[in-house]
Amino acid sequence: MLIKTRKQIHESEVTDERHFLNRRKLIQGFAGVGALASMPASALVLPGEDNLPRYDNPRWLTDRFANLATTYQAQDKLSPYKTAITHNNFYEFGLDKSDPYELAQSFNTDPWKIEITGEVENPTTFYLEDLLKMVDLEERIYRFRCVEAWSMVVPWIGFEFGKLIKQLNPTSKAKYVEFVTLADEKQMPGLRSIWSSIDWPYREGLRMDEALNPLTLLAVGLYGQAMPPQNGAPIRLIVPWKYGFKSVKSIVAIKFRETMPENTWRLTAPNEYGFYANVNPKVDHPRWSQATERRLPSSLFSPNIIDTEMFNGYGEEVAHLYTGMDLRQWY
Ligand code: MTE
Repeated sequence: MLIKTRKQIHESEVTDERHFLNRRKLIQGFAGVGALASMPASALVLPGEDNLPRYDNPRWLTDRFANLATTYQAQDKLSPYKTAITHNNFYEFGLDKSDPYELAQSFNTDPWKIEITGEVENPTTFYLEDLLKMVDLEERIYRFRCVEAWSMVVPWIGFEFGKLIKQLNPTSKAKYVEFVTLADEKQMPGLRSIWSSIDWPYREGLRMDEALNPLTLLAVGLYGQAMPPQNGAPIRLIVPWKYGFKSVKSIVAIKFRETMPENTWRLTAPNEYGFYANVNPKVDHPRWSQATERRLPSSLFSPNIIDTEMFNGYGEEVAHLYTGMDLRQWY
C-alpha cells in the first residue's frame, strides 16, 4: 500500500464475467448428473480464459466444493476472474500488483498447519484438512474494498469463522483474535527484499464480536475453485465491511487474546492506519480520499468511479458493533 501500482490492467485485457456465470451454469448442470465431485475445476476450460491458470483443489478438498450453496450475494456485478487473480496485494511476494501472480505460482500450501493458541480451552495445531472437517463450506459473493480506493466483487468459498470459534471454546478472557501469516524467506521473495519496510510475519486482528459476526469468513477458494496462491492460499480471512488489509492471507496461526493485537499496517505507519479499518467515506486516508472508489476493471477512459458506502454497504449487519464509538478516532 505504500507503493503505487506501476502496471494497470486495461479493460480490454479482462475476461468478461459472463464466462464465469456460464461456468456456474455448467457446474450446476454437472452437479445435476452427479459428476462434479470427480471433476476438478481446472478441467472446465472457458472461452477466452484458456490462457488463465485454474487452481486445482487438493485431493481432500475436491468433494467439499461440489454443490455449494451461495448463501450471501451482493447485488453488484461480479468482477472478472482475471482481475481477481492478477491484481493483488501480497507483499510477501513483492510490491507491484502483478508480482503475486507472477511470483507465487509455486508457493507450496499442501500440507498446511494452523496453530490455535492463547485463550482457548485446548490449544491445538491442526492440519487444514482436519480443521475443515469441523465446518460446512459455502459460497459468498462480497464487495471487497481496498484502502487504496479500488474495489472488486468476488465469489469466495469458505465458512463462517464464528461457527469454528464456538467449537474451539475460547475462554472468558478472549476479547480479541490475532491472525498470523506464514513467513518463509525461501518461498517468499518479498521477505528478502531490501525495499520492504514490514516487520514480518504479516499479522492482523479483530475484536471478538467482529470475529463472531456472521459476515466474517475464512475463505479457502474463489470462483468455484481452490484459493490461488496470490490470493492467500490455502486459507485467508475475509471481512467485507473493512478495508482489504484486514483480510490477512495464508494464515498459520490464530491466537485468542485478552489484549488488542498489533496489526501490520498500524505497526508500519501508525499515523496512517488504525486497528478498526472500517470502510468509511467520511474519514480519508492521508493519501487516498475514501469518498469514492474505482470498481475494477478501471482504466483512464473508463475509470468506473462509484460512491463509497459506509461499512462498504454492510451497515445493517455490522453498524451495531460500533455504537457509541467515534469512528474518526477509532479509524
Ligand atoms: N495478507 C498478507 N499476508 N500480506 C499482504 O500483503 N495484503 C492485504 C490483504 N492481506 C496482504 C494480506 C491487502 S493490503 C489487501 S487489499 C488484500 O489482502 C488484497 O487481497 P487480494 O490480493 O486477494 O485482492
